[in-house]
Amino acid sequence: IRDFNEPFSYRYGIVDPHDDDDDDDDDDDEVCAKRCVLILLIVGLLGISTGTIMLFTDPYNTLFRYKATFGEGGEMFNLWEKPPIELYLRVWLWNVTNREEFLAGKEKLRVQEVGPYTYRENFTHEKVRFNENGTMTSIPTHPLTWVPELSEGRSENDTLILPNIALLSFANVMADASIFTRMGVNILVRQTDSQPLVEMTAREFMFGYESPLVTLGNKFMPSWIMFEKLGLIDRMYDFEGDYETDFTGETDARLSGLIDKYNGFPYLPHWRREEGDGPTTCSNVQMASDGTKFPSYIQPNQTLSFFRKSMCRSMKMVKVGEAFNSGLNGYLYNFVDDALDNGKVNKDNKCFCRNGKCLPPGLIDVTDCYYGFPIAVGYPHMYLADPSVRDAVEGFYPDPKKHRTEFLIEPVSGMPIKVAVRNQINMALGTIDHMAHVQQFSNMVLPLLWTEIGMSELPPFMQTKFVMYMVVLPVVVQVLQWVSLVGGAALAAVSLLAAFCNPCAPPDDVETRRSSRAWLQQDADVNKAVRKQLPELLIVEAERQAAHALKHGMAREREMQVYRSLLAPDDANDVSGSSTASSRRTSFEQAYC
Ligand SMILES: *[C@@H]1O[C@H](CO)[C@@H](O)[C@H](O)[C@H]1NC(C)=O
Ligand SMILES: *[C@@H]1O[C@H](CO)[C@@H](O)[C@H](O)[C@H]1NC(C)=O
Ligand SMILES: *[C@@H]1O[C@H](CO)[C@@H](O)[C@H](O)[C@H]1NC(C)=O
Ligand SMILES: *[C@@H]1O[C@H](CO)[C@@H](O)[C@H](O)[C@H]1NC(C)=O
Ligand SMILES: *[C@@H]1O[C@H](CO)[C@@H](O)[C@H](O)[C@H]1NC(C)=O
Repeated sequence: IRDFNEPFSYRYGIVDPHDDDDDDDDDDDEVCAKRCVLILLIVGLLGISTGTIMLFTDPYNTLFRYKATFGEGGEMFNLWEKPPIELYLRVWLWNVTNREEFLAGKEKLRVQEVGPYTYRENFTHEKVRFNENGTMTSIPTHPLTWVPELSEGRSENDTLILPNIALLSFANVMADASIFTRMGVNILVRQTDSQPLVEMTAREFMFGYESPLVTLGNKFMPSWIMFEKLGLIDRMYDFEGDYETDFTGETDARLSGLIDKYNGFPYLPHWRREEGDGPTTCSNVQMASDGTKFPSYIQPNQTLSFFRKSMCRSMKMVKVGEAFNSGLNGYLYNFVDDALDNGKVNKDNKCFCRNGKCLPPGLIDVTDCYYGFPIAVGYPHMYLADPSVRDAVEGFYPDPKKHRTEFLIEPVSGMPIKVAVRNQINMALGTIDHMAHVQQFSNMVLPLLWTEIGMSELPPFMQTKFVMYMVVLPVVVQVLQWVSLVGGAALAAVSLLAAFCNPCAPPDDVETRRSSRAWLQQDADVNKAVRKQLPELLIVEAERQAAHALKHGMAREREMQVYRSLLAPDDANDVSGSSTASSRRTSFEQAYC
């Protein structure tokens, strides 16, 4: 209680006897007020400059460009290197349902699609090596795992009646050989009793079956048949020895993940026989995507390009609309309409004719990508194919919804949201009516199977990530930018206003009077008056203090400190921690006059 001799400690009790709140201070501090106004001004100016810098540097796009460029450990790079997506290969086989009648020449071939046989495709880029020039080299892998639960009751052990690819290919290749070779082949075919339509399991057809012809071919013509078992999916997924060179985006962020070269060339050598040295419409794979990432910052009128080895070419894609999936808005793409026309409409496609022989529109001759087997790639159910091809076999029901290829691509990142690439593998046979066992197949396009490589949506964690990056973050950055600009301007304006309109006119009510100069003067007068009545007041105050300290259980020392600082109006620089808050508030009140 000794400290109660402090000069102004009593004033409090007199001036505001009913107020129990210690921090409700009336003393104002002009120096502090000025300082606070200055701080406000600085904060305001900082806000304005931050907003302006954001306006001009576009931090979102800078960050995004940085993310889109591939480098060791980068986020987008990791998604490209080992896409954590659920990619499925679904296969439908063309089961022949009238083998006897067809072979007897009584009916045209009748087929029925059987499937889907579903496999999970674990698409990765292995052994990525970064080159000096803004590219990286990697080995693409596509291991398949059988997924019975998505195969709708189909089993790999299903038996079907399917074409004997080895026999038909032999016949087709040898058809133009010398008469002696042909006789030799025919004897071999009859000796081994090779039939053109044979019963086998789905798995055998897709991943390889033993065939005497393949075994013989492998033994005597290893440069043609370098495999021991012949299976169609097995051949389509033969990536042995392949490597890809892709752009990292260092040179141009839009290009990250796109192909620079495949197996060391910007084109596929299969298509280069009759052309010059450079890539052509048919052979070019440069700037194509392997499906893990498309160009970033896609323009709506931009033509994209997709490359899959089993198609033996890159395919151009055009935007046909927009759609919403996985929480993201995407551009919808289809392959261009004339992609498979062999030059009938688009003369640039003439190069798809092999040795001057063009297949009917809707089928591309990819013999050179399929080990010399007469394979033709088209769309499922001969969708968009020449009617002559479609009508030659019974059982095709083309439906754009089910059989065309679709990509939904997030246009800023270039990431695919939804994919369905659909192709049919056929055999386009030449004149083979002089070959044993295969007369009925002369000049025929025989369907073998069709596939869909698809992803129906992004996995949830990728959805969250992409919605965050592509939808939320840009908005947040915009909001921050405008809040900084507008808020900064407002603070600066308020602080300037406060600096100029101080002192304020004396207000009427007590609350505001406290902060005014007039009140300060009054306050000082009261202090003087009160000082005279020191002894009585000291006692009153001491009692009040004791009661108060008891009530609040505060440490006395601290209490005293608070009092000392609160009650020192002309001792401006001796402001202790507890009173700063109230001074700041006062300066605010002053600022908002
Ligand atoms: C394939 O067709 C044959 C008739 O030619 C039939 O016996 C067989 O059950 C079919 N296979 C499947 C899996 O539908
Ligand atoms: C896919 O491949 C990666 C590495 O090659 C492996 O770690 C992962 O387990 C594979 N996933 C599946 C589903 O096979
Ligand atoms: C970049 O370097 C790699 C490896 O050295 C090479 O294969 C590729 O052709 C080069 N690409 C360009 C665009 O120069
Ligand atoms: C398919 O056949 C193989 C060998 O003949 C057998 O091991 C496997 O269990 C069969 N699978 C089913 C689903 O029946
Ligand atoms: C796409 O449109 C933009 C302007 O909207 C134009 O500058 C550009 O040349 C167009 N590109 C193509 C390939 O048509």
